[in-house]
Amino acid sequence: MVVRDEGPPLPLFTRILPINVDDIGTFAFSKPNNFLEPWSLQPSASPSAFNLLEATDALRTTLHPVAFPTETVYGLGANALSSHAVRGIYAAKQRPSDNPLIVHIASLDQLRALLDPADNGSDPIPQIYLPLIKRFWPGPLSILLPNPKRSTLAPEVTASQPTFAARMPSSKLALALIKLSGLPLAAPSANASTKPSPTTAQHVAHDLEGRIEIILDGGPCAIGVESTVVDGLSSPPCILRPGGVGIEQIRACPSWEDVVVGYQDRKLEDEEAARAPGMKYKHYSPAAKVVLADAGVGWEVVQCSIGEAVRKGQRSFGVMRTKRWEAVEGSEVSNGIHEINGVKLEFPIEGLGGELPYDVRHIKARSGEQEYDVWDLSIGPSVKDVARDLFSALRELDLRGVSTVFVEGIEDEGETAAAVMNRLRKAATESLSASM
Ligand code: TXA
Ligand code: MG
Repeated sequence: MVVRDEGPPLPLFTRILPINVDDIGTFAFSKPNNFLEPWSLQPSASPSAFNLLEATDALRTTLHPVAFPTETVYGLGANALSSHAVRGIYAAKQRPSDNPLIVHIASLDQLRALLDPADNGSDPIPQIYLPLIKRFWPGPLSILLPNPKRSTLAPEVTASQPTFAARMPSSKLALALIKLSGLPLAAPSANASTKPSPTTAQHVAHDLEGRIEIILDGGPCAIGVESTVVDGLSSPPCILRPGGVGIEQIRACPSWEDVVVGYQDRKLEDEEAARAPGMKYKHYSPAAKVVLADAGVGWEVVQCSIGEAVRKGQRSFGVMRTKRWEAVEGSEVSNGIHEINGVKLEFPIEGLGGELPYDVRHIKARSGEQEYDVWDLSIGPSVKDVARDLFSALRELDLRGVSTVFVEGIEDEGETAAAVMNRLRKAATESLSASM
């Protein structure tokens, strides 16, 4: 594994700059609310606009990457045209340098400028992508494009691939940042490499405090899982990563009826994974062990597993419920000092992300003579809710130091369900199936 260790001396002083997207300025469109046609932004004199401009200045004039929200997850952005700037991303995240980055753009012309002009003067964006762009951009979809021989992109963006990935995010804050910086921004998710992706500014700070200077805080991300990555250059076209746009939605577009699934859900063995850049690396891994129960596995099965773990000496567990599992029974722990795993902790523990959209219940439960602690989170029942809160819930449970998290899986059908189960299967080291 190649990890870059160049970059500025650490620690840096990290600031979280709040932005209210409604205050940043006036958007002007050539077609109402249509970011695919030419548009502009006149920044206001508000504190939010001031913070945004400070970030665009940093992107233009320094080598420090800037963390910013998108509708999927928080990204860590840098000038995609500068090798030094892009190396700063790899250094801050400790990301292996052979895992390519997605280039974020705010207009189709900004994308065209990165492509070879077409011979006959037609659109340099490959035809096959036009139905997807029309339907899903701006939004949670990344497309693979041919990287020109004399590409202006920094080679670090593509990690020596003949292609680069691009996406136009729908977050107005992200679009404004790209637009006002005037730069295509290379941006991976803003987590420390291997950790779950961040969906709040506080998650980013938790991972990257002291390693970056600016985190723009636009509140929690609406979607919660990363973009769908598609390759329309191969035949048949292929989905490289499930994400915010569902596979069925892509299949419904002209020229995409035969799209194939080109990703694996399991944790991959090294040599088979080498086909897909970046896929061989550990992903979405909290410190706790994750046990994923298939949709339909009853709560009794989990209780048995917990009982067994208690007999082996484990004393604190997380339970992430989605659709059917009932709330964990036991006595709710009141505020105050409590001893867990021999460590005295004060409750309530402050959450990472400020106000959480789900409840975190702390319960004392019992197996035979033995008491143990359970943190019970309900993040369902809709697929949208599960996707939005998945990474956040894994992070919250890590904060509470649980040794094992039991997750109630969902059916692999529709919307972002495939993305949810893909991330969970990669995070999990064990599974519970109905046939056990
Ligand atoms: O929603 C998202 O996509 C977020 C936000 C910040 O936009 N970004 C994100 O980036 O998830 P990252 O780096 O965590 O994931 C990028 C994915 C990786 O799986 C990488 O292997 C794939 O895109 N990728 C990028 N360029 C590629 C290329 N040229 N060929 C194949 N896969 C590529
Ligand atoms: Mg990532």
